[in-house]
Amino acid sequence: MCGIIAYTGSQEAAPILLDGLHRLEYRGYDSAGIALLHRKRIRCWKAAGKISILRQRLPETTAGQCGIGHTRWATHGAPTDENAHPHTDSELRIAVAHNGIIENADVLRAQLMAEGVSFSSETDSEVLAHLLGAFDGSLIDAMRTVLPRIQGTYGLAAIDREAPDTVVVARLGSPVILGIGDGEMLAASDMSALARHTREIVHLDDGEVAEMTPRGFQVTTLDARPSQKNTTQLSGVLADYDKGGYAHYLHREIRDQADVVERTLSGRLDTRFSTAHLGGLNLAPRELLNIRRIKILGCGSAFYAGMSGAHMIEQLARLPVSAEAAAEFRYRNPVVEPETLYIAVSQSGETFDTLAALREIRRKGGHVLGIVNSVGSTIAREVDGGIYMHAGPEVSVASTKAYTSMLTVFALLALMLGRLRDVSPQRGNALVEALQGLPDKVRETLALEPAIASLAPMLVTAHSAFFLGRTSAYPVALEGAQKLKEISYIHAEAYPSSELKHGPLALISSHTPCIVMLPNDELLHKSLSTLEEIRTRGAPVIAVTDADHPRIRELSDEVIHIPQVEPLLQPVIAGIALQLLAYHSAVLMERDIDQPRNLAKSVTVE
Ligand code: AGP
Repeated sequence: MCGIIAYTGSQEAAPILLDGLHRLEYRGYDSAGIALLHRKRIRCWKAAGKISILRQRLPETTAGQCGIGHTRWATHGAPTDENAHPHTDSELRIAVAHNGIIENADVLRAQLMAEGVSFSSETDSEVLAHLLGAFDGSLIDAMRTVLPRIQGTYGLAAIDREAPDTVVVARLGSPVILGIGDGEMLAASDMSALARHTREIVHLDDGEVAEMTPRGFQVTTLDARPSQKNTTQLSGVLADYDKGGYAHYLHREIRDQADVVERTLSGRLDTRFSTAHLGGLNLAPRELLNIRRIKILGCGSAFYAGMSGAHMIEQLARLPVSAEAAAEFRYRNPVVEPETLYIAVSQSGETFDTLAALREIRRKGGHVLGIVNSVGSTIAREVDGGIYMHAGPEVSVASTKAYTSMLTVFALLALMLGRLRDVSPQRGNALVEALQGLPDKVRETLALEPAIASLAPMLVTAHSAFFLGRTSAYPVALEGAQKLKEISYIHAEAYPSSELKHGPLALISSHTPCIVMLPNDELLHKSLSTLEEIRTRGAPVIAVTDADHPRIRELSDEVIHIPQVEPLLQPVIAGIALQLLAYHSAVLMERDIDQPRNLAKSVTVE
């Protein structure tokens, strides 16, 4: 997804902007650019491709202590130099970097062209530069006049040669965060770009515009009413945004998961009453007791985590719980009911489809909780209550530690809701102890990495891989297929094991390795039948199991034997094994592991 960085202060802006763009790279992009303001002159450098190409185009020394930068993930117009941001007006008075989509860009472009304006790009964003440049007045007033004409979404930053050391930023549907420095101000679309410079941040809300100078900032609405803003502390520390000696952020984030689970659990296990203590729900026990069903919404891996969470909560709280892809939910004109609790799950807290779904639910009077990682993010600020994951910043596009943290939060929520209902103190205590022991179980699973890595060659030559699991193992299979697809580009599908004979079995052959989840549960004998079905078709089989049944090894080419753990928590352990399998497959295939093609870290557009 596109990234924005802006700076005004006493330092040379170019190095700060380039470092900020580097920090935003993980979000996915295909071109980049910066614009500097110096002595009432704007200069702009842009390049398709990686930031290293942009760096090569910059002169040895640049002048300007005020500027903006952008990484573009192409939506309107190919990734070319001309289409890269920032965009300027014809007089080079204004430069603007824009995240989002301007839905009425064609109409605005036609109007501008009819007035004699010539365009230099195919982008929707360029209309902003011309509209702002044509305004006779201050940049902030230009924003207040132009932005109401924009239909769609924007997170933007602009500079004006007539407004030395001033940057104006605005937000509608795409995140903008201010960074407050000592004698300097920054803004960015993502906290990672601010981490080197400040820990004090302010999140803009939709419909707000901020004017920044080295002396400070002012936030107002588009109709110039002052907005009272609270500053928050940037989550995580700078070191979280580095690879920590690993070859890839993804590898570090996989290896950090025992600590992540510990952080997610920290302070939330109540050993006295054998339950979980979750502050921030903003729901009293009696209100929680009145809940009759739960609907979980998320996208991608967050959706699959929600499916696992649905199983956990249903098993313990004996409530009907289901998970649904957020965009699908929103577009099917859902029935929102008063006794249903809705849960929006999102690592970034900025995923457009999840945000839009929760807004639709709240518009209809529904009650929404958030399970979010990014503190102060849009979803975290718009839900009725919620639980922060405390997984630390997740930089790699493919989600691993956040996914595992989501599962851990769901286990805590299931325990708490279960203990409000029929879960006994004894069962509750067993679950508390299992959660207390979970970090060590994760460490045991991570210790399997060399053995799991040795299986990657079985996948890298496949044209399709199948992940199979029953009941609680099916969402794990979905996430395992997702990880393999995302980072290795190997086609993978997941099915409920019971579904194989209803169609997919036609595809099973010696060219389709099958990764089969066999939890040591009451369905193990059924899962063994799945192995038989696959084996007779000659497909290579990797079994992922905590069971010791001799038939498993007889029917499998390879077995990943994962640690035994409370069955409810098995998805955490099995999920990590599949993350490692996907990672090492992608390493063998020399993929762009942290920035997979076509993908973005936070999908803030539809
Ligand atoms: C997961 O590996 C992907 N990066 C993607 O599916 C992601 O989970 C999805 O876009 C949701 O993101 P969110 O958790 O930030 O809302």
